[in-house]
Amino acid sequence: MTDKQNRIQALISSIVNYLKAHRGCLSGVDITLDKLAGMNLSDERLIDIPSQSTRHDEVLSNAIAGIVAPELVDIAICLKAAKDDLVWREDNAQFYQQGADLGKGYTKCNLHTLLIGSDACGHYHPDFSLGIFMLGPRTLYRDHNHEAPELYVNLSDKSGWRFGTRDWKDYPAGSLIWNPSGATHATRVYEQPFISVFVWLENVSSLCKLVLCDDWEEIEHELARLGS
Ligand SMILES: [Fe+2]
Repeated sequence: MTDKQNRIQALISSIVNYLKAHRGCLSGVDITLDKLAGMNLSDERLIDIPSQSTRHDEVLSNAIAGIVAPELVDIAICLKAAKDDLVWREDNAQFYQQGADLGKGYTKCNLHTLLIGSDACGHYHPDFSLGIFMLGPRTLYRDHNHEAPELYVNLSDKSGWRFGTRDWKDYPAGSLIWNPSGATHATRVYEQPFISVFVWLENVSSLCKLVLCDDWEEIEHELARLGS
């Protein structure tokens, strides 16, 4: 195994260990752990593909530097070490239903890397995705849903979430978010970038559907004014 593969494997292990420590906290954690237990994630199965950097590297470094919660220290160290080994990609309209307007903030700065998945830089899996997801500061990730059940581990200190209503709630670092298949959710990012672990448990090729809300522009306007 190369040093690079070692670092990627260590990052995956740090995430799996965090989930193991939270078994029983949320049904999505248990389902994810059961799926992971059925996979061969041994060193010999690690993929070796060229890394891919990102135009958002500065935001990404800030986001990683912002992972400071004590219970996330292992993930933070491993992510810092492996950042330049990973394949970073941006979401684009192909993940969404035709004509979807994701908003300026989202289009301007979203980023992810797949550690396990169909085109992952860690382990191959045809219908399961686990990776790191980032959004730039002051971004609204508009209300949407998808067939794929989704688990988030919030790594950044504070992020706003709502689930099919107009009411927002802030979640701290280390918190877990479970979006069952088809459940609508939205995320808002304050002055610091948002970074998380994300998992899509199945139906990973299903498209995201935006769920139109009449307060998007108002929220985007409010977020844009933060800190100014
Ligand atoms: Fe989602």
